[in-house]
Amino acid sequence: MRVLGLESSCDETAAAIVDDGVVVLADVVASQHDVHAKYGGVVPELASRAHILNVVPVVQAALDRAGSTLDEIDGIAVTNAPGLVGALLVGLQTAKALAWVTGKPLVGVHHLEGHLSAVFLEPDPPPMPHLALIVSGGHTSLVRVNAHADVIELGATRDDAAGEAFDKGAKLLGLGYPGGVVIDKLASTGDPKAVKFPKAMTTAETGAEFSFSGLKTSLLHHVRKHGVPEGQGLADLCASYQAAIVEVLVRKTRRIARRERLEHVQVCGGVAANSGLRAALRAAGAEDGFKVYIPPPGRCTDNAAMIAAAGYHRLVRGERAGLDLDAVPSLPLPRQQA
Ligand SMILES: Nc1ncnc2c1ncn2[C@@H]1O[C@H](COP(=O)(O)OP(=O)(O)OP(=O)(O)O)[C@@H](O)[C@H]1O
Ligand SMILES: [Mg+2]
Repeated sequence: MRVLGLESSCDETAAAIVDDGVVVLADVVASQHDVHAKYGGVVPELASRAHILNVVPVVQAALDRAGSTLDEIDGIAVTNAPGLVGALLVGLQTAKALAWVTGKPLVGVHHLEGHLSAVFLEPDPPPMPHLALIVSGGHTSLVRVNAHADVIELGATRDDAAGEAFDKGAKLLGLGYPGGVVIDKLASTGDPKAVKFPKAMTTAETGAEFSFSGLKTSLLHHVRKHGVPEGQGLADLCASYQAAIVEVLVRKTRRIARRERLEHVQVCGGVAANSGLRAALRAAGAEDGFKVYIPPPGRCTDNAAMIAAAGYHRLVRGERAGLDLDAVPSLPLPRQQA
């Protein structure tokens, strides 16, 4: 089954063509980072307008790279939730128009289900059930994945997402948007013990919940007191800030993997591209005896190959969306009952 995937929930316009949920024939991403960089974050209206400009060329580029015609597509999968509503609508309307004119089946995909599916495009995907740490620009949660499209959220952040902590920290340090990748690079030559930052909600009673807003405030106080350092000082500050985020993510993941008796752990979402997090989780897994699965960095951030992979599992189950499929800006994953 050949699936065309479409993604436009935030600031990437993406289209991909994936065969049987695993073979990526084309994976095209048009990033809008340049559009938003000077504002230090995504400006929703500018995102929608850029998606409108990019969406048809991106779909055409995906078809060209795959050497496929629209006729050879067996289904269309599109992110319809959650995200910026004006951004989601562009990909959704494009997918609906394509489904309408071609008569091909359409399915809506939850963006986080997409992130969870990225690792299944790799040669050695995790077995079911497994634990997933979702760490992205808008979400941070620990999730039990029972099967494709069957997940239970065990806990999530109460305030900022890990990606937001990276981006807001970078903005405070004048490092631009998106900040995660810049902090990651600077941190690689810094001393993670140089500055002490708070690590919130690490006790057992806090379960799988996170909090990162205090960390950002702590950086703000540090900068107000000492200013933004340059050279080695900046590298040390970035390394310390990153280490605080990574330590919390790793501690909670270890504890929940043990509690849930899950021996396979995947990490997904943009922050899963972070080299410090990748190394620390792999080391923790080796120590505790769980196996860690992380997509390559380019498939951690937003892409449409992961949406096509997630959509494939829904399409093979016979799921079909109507042309009334709606964009839903906020849609939590199913939660574990207390
Ligand atoms: N190497 C890195 N280290 C740390 N953070 C990173 C790295 N690369 C990307 N990020 C962060 O990942 C985030 C983007 O991830 P993603 O594209 O999944 O987010 P999103 O789609 O905007 O949010 P969501 O998936 O929650 O809707 C940004 O916050 C960015 O700073
Ligand atoms: Mg995302």
